[in-house]
Formats: sequence, C-alpha cells, structure tokens
Amino acid sequence: MRPRQKLADTVLLTGATGFLGGRVLAELLATTSAKIICPVRATSQQMAADRGVATLLKALDRTPTPEESARTHWVRGDIEEHRLGFSDQTWLDICQQTTRILHCAASVRFDLPLEEAHHINVTGTEHLLDLGRVASKLNNFECFHHVSTAYSAGTASGLVDADYLPGDAAGNFRNTYERTKARAERMLRDQTDIEVAIYRPSIVGGTTDDGQTDNWNVLYAPMRMIANNQLPVMPSSGLALVDSVGVDYVARGIVELMGRDRGDYVGHHLTAGPDAFTVQQFVDLVRRICVRHDKKPSDTQLIGPARWAALTTGVSLAARAPKSAPKVRRWGRLGERGLRGFAPYAPYTGVSTRFDNRRERLMLSAAEIEMPAAIEYLETIATFAISTDFGRAPKHALDVADRHGAPIGVVA
Ligand SMILES: NC(=O)c1ccc[n+]([C@@H]2O[C@H](COP(=O)([O-])OP(=O)(O)OC[C@H]3O[C@@H](n4cnc5c(N)ncnc54)[C@H](OP(=O)(O)O)[C@@H]3O)[C@@H](O)[C@H]2O)c1
Repeated sequence: MRPRQKLADTVLLTGATGFLGGRVLAELLATTSAKIICPVRATSQQMAADRGVATLLKALDRTPTPEESARTHWVRGDIEEHRLGFSDQTWLDICQQTTRILHCAASVRFDLPLEEAHHINVTGTEHLLDLGRVASKLNNFECFHHVSTAYSAGTASGLVDADYLPGDAAGNFRNTYERTKARAERMLRDQTDIEVAIYRPSIVGGTTDDGQTDNWNVLYAPMRMIANNQLPVMPSSGLALVDSVGVDYVARGIVELMGRDRGDYVGHHLTAGPDAFTVQQFVDLVRRICVRHDKKPSDTQLIGPARWAALTTGVSLAARAPKSAPKVRRWGRLGERGLRGFAPYAPYTGVSTRFDNRRERLMLSAAEIEMPAAIEYLETIATFAISTDFGRAPKHALDVADRHGAPIGVVA
C-alpha cells in the first residue's frame, strides 16, 4: 500500500460518478486520510446513497472496506442549482466541514448550445465558488481545486503554458465545451476571495497499464470509425498533434499536486506535452492493430482543407440527388451519416498546440507518477479498445500476447 499524504481535510468532490471523478475518488481513498463528500444528481437522498454504493464499487473494482465506506458521504446535489439544491441545514453543515473543493463535474459534450454548456460549466462552477467562499468564513478552508482542460487554450498554436487563456471570442475555440471551460477558469482566476488551483488534462484515455476504460468518447470515436472501416478520409495534414494521457495518471497527478506547495502557479498541465503523437501516427497505428485482430480497417487518407470542403459539398449534393439516381443518393446519405458522427471531432485533427508540461512532469516523476511514452500508450489503449470491440466484448477478450508482443513503434 502506498503511504498516505498528510491531506486530512474534508474534500467536497463533484463528478465522482464520472469517468475521471471515480478514479480521483479511489485515489483520494488510497493515498490520503481525507473525508470525502460527494454531491450526486438524484431524485432522493436514498437514490444518492444508492448511486454512491454503486460508484464506490465500480471505482475500487472491489467491495469497499468499512473505513472506505465511512470516509465517503453521498449527498443529493446538482451543481446547476443555487447552493447545489441543498436544504439550508445541509448547506450550512457542508460549508462548515469542507476544507477543499475538488470540482470535477462538467458537461464534456462538444455540441451543446452555448447557453446550456455555460449553465453547467460556468454557472455550476460559480455555485461551487459560493460554497468555497462561505466555507472560508466558517473554517480553515484551503483551496478550490478545479478540473479544467488543456483545450481551454482553444485554437492557440505553438507552446502554451497552463496559465494561458485566450479571450472569450467564439473564434478562439473549437466548440462550446472549450469556451465554457475557459470561462469557468477565467472566473476563478479573476476572483481573490479563495485560493484556486487549476488542473488541465489533455484527452483522457484508458489506464496506462492495460488501456481499460468504459468511456468511449473523444479519441475512441475516430478509432472506432477506422476499425469499422467507416473513415475513408480525414481532414488533416497528418502533422497535427494528438495529446492524450491515462485516466490513472491524471487522477494520481491531481491528488499528488493537491497536497503540494504550488508556489505562485495556478494552472497545471497533465499532458503528454512534447511527447504528443501526430494524427498520421494515430491512423497508422490504429490500422495496424486492427490488422493484428483480423479486422479490415479503413484505408484512411488524410486530405487538406480544400479537398475536405469539396468532399463534404459533394456528399451533401449526392444525398439530395433525384430518386432516379438511387446509388448516388445512397452513397450521399451514408456519407452524410459518417460526416455527422465525425463532425464533433473534426476540429481536433488540426491541433498545433503543445501543452508545456515540464514543471508538472518533474514534480510528478519525483512521486513516481509518470506517463509511458505517448506512442506506447496509444498502442495500449488501442489494443484494449479493438480487442474488446470498444467495450462490447468481455474484458478477458483482451489478447495479452498483443500487449507483450513486438512493439509497433513509431510508424509515421
Ligand atoms: N474525458 C476527458 O477526455 C477530459 C479531458 C480533459 C478534461 N476533462 C475534465 O474532467 C472532468 C471530468 O470529465 P469526465 O470525462 O470524467 O466526464 P464524465 O464522465 O461525463 O463525468 C461528468 C461528471 O459530472 C457530473 N455532472 C454533470 N452535470 C452535473 C450536475 N448538474 N450536477 C452534478 N453533477 C453533474 C456527472 O454526473 P452524472 O453521473 O449524474 O451524470 C458525472 O459525474 C470534467 O471537468 C472535464 O472537463 C475531461
């Protein structure tokens, strides 16, 4: 068992039922003595407690010990509501106890209307900030730890540090997710009432040792399309960067950094940084792993913006071809469906941002928290995804020989 940090606070953890939050919860239980209060969406306190039991079981992948159960408190709460929808008494009790907030809840959808994304990601964060402000008057409140995203940097190119934030113009961001995560950060950075630390993971994928995940978003969407022979073309120069890190690395990193003296730094990157792989490496490696698993992947060609625009126009015209041309119509309609599925991820095939992680890497490697080489990591998560048919086949279908076979390596 790893030694426990001194962090003996009462941590209010939001988003514990989510992909990253569950890992963070398990890490807090394993490496700190903190009491953890988790607000969860539920229609009754009983349902909140039931969600808590199921979440803890899943996060630990075993029955919790009595001590773990006793340290974890589940309360009905919705970050979108004023005071999280708590009764006056619950609000006061929680404010009196909470010495750290770890705000992990968010909507991670790329395609929500701005107002909706703002309500969850910005107004929700304001409600937590209110809690922090009251807590700081009632006890020795330490810090508001906020989980953001490296992509709060928007469409910036080149090397950016973890405190870089572009202005709030729609054109600076790929979608409402990035924009509202940046707004929440700005709001927290601009206030001076309580101390804030911001964690910015890049794309969070499966575990670093065996690639396990039950979250099949972001990186896994184009991966699945390639594996299912549904992605003949992708708009990219091939040199665009894909920065991805393991969920275990991020959870361990956040909890480790929470207990550290951060000096004057507010933002922390949990990213692959200079080690990020390219879109071309991603496509080549995914295709090779498919072939190893006797799947026939797409022969995905990377094309420039002009060809991509011509293709999308051609598909749209074909989908509206007259009924007398049924083959053209069918091709167009299939094409449109594929483009719709790929649309939220298309802007990420042109990323040229490098997320500087030199300081965080040094701090975390001192605690033996490290990411494997990015291409090795990609091989691990792609092998898990493809060998389990993206979660449809049971876990034991993972072909262990694959993971220990000859490395595929850099194939760009
Ligand atoms: N996944 C990534 O690649 C990635 C990358 C960078 C940063 N992040 C950041 O990491 C954090 C966690 O992301 P994730 O991937 O773990 O997302 P997730 O699996 O979708 O989890 C989101 C969590 O937020 C909770 N939540 C959403 N709206 C809520 C509300 N109104 N009230 C209370 N809880 C609410 C959800 O609760 P329910 O169970 O009730 O839905 C769930 O626990 C987010 O802040 C995200 O921006 C994620």
